[in-house]
Amino acid sequence: KKILVLISGSGSNLQAIIDQVHLSDEPGNIVAVISNKADAYGLERAANAGIETSVVASKGITDRAQYDQALISEIDNYQPDLIVMAGFMRILTPEFVQHYSGKMLNIHPSLLPKYQGLNTHQRAIDANDEEHGASVHFVTEELDGGPVILQAKVPVFSDDQAEDLAARVQDQEHRIYPLAVKWFVNNRLCMQGGKAVLDDVEL
Ligand code: GRF
Repeated sequence: KKILVLISGSGSNLQAIIDQVHLSDEPGNIVAVISNKADAYGLERAANAGIETSVVASKGITDRAQYDQALISEIDNYQPDLIVMAGFMRILTPEFVQHYSGKMLNIHPSLLPKYQGLNTHQRAIDANDEEHGASVHFVTEELDGGPVILQAKVPVFSDDQAEDLAARVQDQEHRIYPLAVKWFVNNRLCMQGGKAVLDDVEL
Protein backbone atom coordinates (compact mmCIF):
# COMPACT_ATOMS: atom_id res chain seq x y z
CA LYS A 1 0.00 0.00 0.00
CA LYS A 2 1.17 3.48 -0.86
CA ILE A 3 1.19 5.88 2.06
CA LEU A 4 1.46 9.64 1.67
CA VAL A 5 2.09 11.82 4.72
CA LEU A 6 1.03 15.47 5.08
CA ILE A 7 2.94 17.63 7.58
CA SER A 8 3.41 21.24 8.62
CA GLY A 9 6.07 21.01 11.30
CA SER A 10 8.45 18.89 13.33
CA GLY A 11 7.22 15.57 12.01
CA SER A 12 7.79 13.46 15.11
CA ASN A 13 4.73 11.39 14.24
CA LEU A 14 6.04 11.04 10.70
CA GLN A 15 9.29 9.74 12.20
CA ALA A 16 7.46 7.15 14.29
CA ILE A 17 5.67 5.94 11.16
CA ILE A 18 8.88 5.90 9.08
CA ASP A 19 10.57 3.85 11.81
CA GLN A 20 7.80 1.30 11.83
CA VAL A 21 7.50 1.01 8.06
CA HIS A 22 11.27 0.62 7.70
CA LEU A 23 11.78 -1.82 10.54
CA SER A 24 9.21 -4.36 9.65
CA ASP A 25 8.18 -6.11 6.47
CA GLU A 26 4.89 -4.21 6.36
CA PRO A 27 2.91 -4.21 3.12
CA GLY A 28 3.14 -0.40 3.11
CA ASN A 29 5.64 2.15 1.94
CA ILE A 30 5.75 5.91 2.21
CA VAL A 31 5.72 7.27 -1.33
CA ALA A 32 5.93 10.95 -0.43
CA VAL A 33 5.82 13.54 2.32
CA ILE A 34 4.14 16.82 1.45
CA SER A 35 4.33 19.96 3.58
CA ASN A 36 2.51 23.26 3.29
CA LYS A 37 5.56 24.91 4.85
CA ALA A 38 8.97 24.91 3.20
CA ASP A 39 10.83 25.02 6.54
CA ALA A 40 9.06 22.08 8.20
CA TYR A 41 11.69 19.94 9.97
CA GLY A 42 9.75 16.84 8.98
CA LEU A 43 10.94 17.37 5.38
CA GLU A 44 14.49 16.71 6.59
CA ARG A 45 13.39 13.59 8.38
CA ALA A 46 11.80 12.35 5.16
CA ALA A 47 14.85 13.20 3.05
CA ASN A 48 17.10 11.40 5.57
CA ALA A 49 14.93 8.33 5.12
CA GLY A 50 15.19 8.56 1.32
CA ILE A 51 11.54 9.54 0.89
CA GLU A 52 10.42 11.95 -1.82
CA THR A 53 9.29 15.30 -0.50
CA SER A 54 7.40 18.21 -1.93
CA VAL A 55 6.09 21.55 -0.73
CA VAL A 56 2.71 22.92 -1.70
CA ALA A 57 3.12 26.32 -0.06
CA SER A 58 0.04 27.75 1.57
CA LYS A 59 1.66 31.08 2.40
CA GLY A 60 -0.13 33.95 0.70
CA ILE A 61 -2.98 31.80 -0.61
CA THR A 62 -6.22 32.95 0.92
CA ASP A 63 -8.58 30.93 -1.22
CA ARG A 64 -9.04 27.58 0.52
CA ALA A 65 -10.59 25.86 -2.50
CA GLN A 66 -7.69 26.97 -4.68
CA TYR A 67 -5.11 25.65 -2.22
CA ASP A 68 -6.88 22.33 -1.77
CA GLN A 69 -7.07 21.90 -5.57
CA ALA A 70 -3.31 22.43 -5.81
CA LEU A 71 -2.77 19.93 -3.00
CA ILE A 72 -5.04 17.36 -4.64
CA SER A 73 -3.13 17.60 -7.94
CA GLU A 74 0.17 17.09 -6.15
CA ILE A 75 -1.11 14.19 -4.03
CA ASP A 76 -2.70 12.46 -7.02
CA ASN A 77 0.68 12.27 -8.78
CA TYR A 78 1.48 9.55 -6.24
CA GLN A 79 -1.84 7.67 -6.35
CA PRO A 80 -1.72 6.90 -2.61
CA ASP A 81 -3.93 4.31 -0.90
CA LEU A 82 -3.67 6.12 2.43
CA ILE A 83 -3.14 9.74 3.40
CA VAL A 84 -1.76 10.29 6.88
CA MET A 85 -2.12 13.76 8.33
CA ALA A 86 0.68 14.13 10.85
CA GLY A 87 0.54 17.62 12.28
CA PHE A 88 -0.85 19.09 9.06
CA MET A 89 -2.19 22.36 10.42
CA ARG A 90 -4.80 23.27 7.85
CA ILE A 91 -8.55 22.98 7.72
CA LEU A 92 -9.56 21.06 4.61
CA THR A 93 -12.48 21.82 2.31
CA PRO A 94 -15.35 19.31 2.01
CA GLU A 95 -14.27 18.74 -1.62
CA PHE A 96 -10.82 17.66 -0.46
CA VAL A 97 -12.17 15.38 2.25
CA GLN A 98 -14.67 13.76 -0.13
CA HIS A 99 -11.98 13.15 -2.72
CA TYR A 100 -10.11 10.93 -0.23
CA SER A 101 -13.04 9.65 1.79
CA GLY A 102 -12.17 6.61 3.87
CA LYS A 103 -8.48 6.96 3.03
CA MET A 104 -7.43 9.73 5.35
CA LEU A 105 -6.24 9.47 8.95
CA ASN A 106 -5.48 12.21 11.46
CA ILE A 107 -4.09 12.33 14.97
CA HIS A 108 -5.53 14.83 17.40
CA PRO A 109 -4.04 15.66 20.81
CA SER A 110 -7.11 15.09 22.98
CA LEU A 111 -9.50 12.37 24.00
CA LEU A 112 -12.06 13.11 21.31
CA PRO A 113 -14.86 14.15 21.28
CA LYS A 114 -13.37 16.39 23.97
CA TYR A 115 -11.39 19.44 22.83
CA GLN A 116 -11.68 19.56 19.09
CA GLY A 117 -9.58 22.37 17.61
CA LEU A 118 -6.51 24.05 19.07
CA ASN A 119 -4.84 24.49 22.50
CA THR A 120 -6.05 21.14 23.75
CA HIS A 121 -3.43 20.72 26.49
CA GLN A 122 -4.13 24.08 28.12
CA ARG A 123 -7.85 23.43 27.90
CA ALA A 124 -7.46 20.08 29.68
CA ILE A 125 -5.41 21.78 32.43
CA ASP A 126 -7.89 24.64 32.79
CA ALA A 127 -10.75 22.17 33.13
CA ASN A 128 -8.87 20.30 35.91
CA ASP A 129 -9.15 17.09 33.95
CA GLU A 130 -7.51 14.10 35.57
CA GLU A 131 -6.75 12.50 32.25
CA HIS A 132 -5.98 13.64 28.76
CA GLY A 133 -4.60 11.94 25.67
CA ALA A 134 -4.57 11.52 21.93
CA SER A 135 -6.94 10.08 19.33
CA VAL A 136 -6.40 8.63 15.86
CA HIS A 137 -9.46 9.07 13.66
CA PHE A 138 -10.67 8.94 10.09
CA VAL A 139 -11.03 12.37 8.54
CA THR A 140 -14.54 13.48 7.64
CA GLU A 141 -15.97 16.89 6.85
CA GLU A 142 -16.42 17.72 10.53
CA LEU A 143 -13.15 19.11 11.91
CA ASP A 144 -11.68 16.59 14.38
CA GLY A 145 -15.07 14.90 14.29
CA GLY A 146 -14.50 11.76 12.21
CA PRO A 147 -14.87 8.26 13.70
CA VAL A 148 -12.26 7.47 16.33
CA ILE A 149 -10.02 4.43 15.75
CA LEU A 150 -7.72 4.39 18.73
CA GLN A 151 -7.00 6.49 21.81
CA ALA A 152 -4.27 6.65 24.43
CA LYS A 153 -4.74 8.23 27.86
CA VAL A 154 -2.21 10.01 30.03
CA PRO A 155 -2.57 11.42 33.54
CA VAL A 156 -2.68 15.17 34.14
CA PHE A 157 -0.60 16.21 37.17
CA SER A 158 -1.45 19.25 39.28
CA ASP A 159 1.80 21.06 38.46
CA ASP A 160 1.65 20.36 34.71
CA GLN A 161 2.29 23.15 32.24
CA ALA A 162 0.86 22.74 28.74
CA GLU A 163 4.34 21.75 27.44
CA ASP A 164 4.70 18.95 30.01
CA LEU A 165 1.36 17.56 29.08
CA ALA A 166 2.05 17.94 25.35
CA ALA A 167 5.26 15.91 25.70
CA ARG A 168 3.46 13.16 27.62
CA VAL A 169 0.71 13.03 24.99
CA GLN A 170 3.20 13.00 22.11
CA ASP A 171 4.96 9.92 23.50
CA GLN A 172 1.63 8.15 23.25
CA GLU A 173 0.92 9.52 19.78
CA HIS A 174 4.12 7.87 18.60
CA ARG A 175 2.80 4.52 19.85
CA ILE A 176 -0.75 4.64 18.56
CA TYR A 177 -0.39 6.33 15.17
CA PRO A 178 1.96 3.73 13.65
CA LEU A 179 -0.35 1.03 14.97
CA ALA A 180 -3.41 2.46 13.20
CA VAL A 181 -1.39 2.85 9.98
CA LYS A 182 -0.31 -0.78 10.30
CA TRP A 183 -3.94 -1.91 10.65
CA PHE A 184 -4.92 0.07 7.56
CA VAL A 185 -2.15 -1.20 5.30
CA ASN A 186 -2.91 -4.74 6.40
CA ASN A 187 -6.53 -4.27 5.29
CA ARG A 188 -7.79 -4.69 8.84
CA LEU A 189 -9.15 -1.17 9.20
CA CYS A 190 -11.66 0.74 7.12
CA MET A 191 -14.45 3.29 7.37
CA GLN A 192 -17.94 1.96 6.67
CA GLY A 193 -21.18 3.90 6.98
CA GLY A 194 -19.38 6.66 8.86
CA LYS A 195 -17.92 4.24 11.42
CA ALA A 196 -14.41 2.93 11.94
CA VAL A 197 -14.31 -0.85 11.52
CA LEU A 198 -11.45 -3.08 12.66
CA ASP A 199 -11.47 -6.77 11.74
CA ASP A 200 -15.16 -6.46 10.81
CA VAL A 201 -16.04 -5.07 14.24
CA GLU A 202 -17.34 -1.51 14.67
CA LEU A 203 -15.10 0.55 16.94
C1 GRF B 1 0.80 16.39 17.23
O1 GRF B 1 0.75 16.67 18.59
C2 GRF B 1 -0.57 16.13 16.69
O2 GRF B 1 -1.44 15.61 17.63
C3 GRF B 1 -1.04 17.48 16.25
O3 GRF B 1 0.11 18.14 15.80
C4 GRF B 1 1.26 17.60 16.43
C5 GRF B 1 2.25 17.22 15.38
O4 GRF B 1 3.50 16.94 15.89
N1 GRF B 1 -2.09 17.33 15.28
P1 GRF B 1 4.64 16.33 14.95
O5 GRF B 1 4.82 17.31 13.79
O6 GRF B 1 4.23 14.98 14.51
O7 GRF B 1 5.88 16.31 15.79
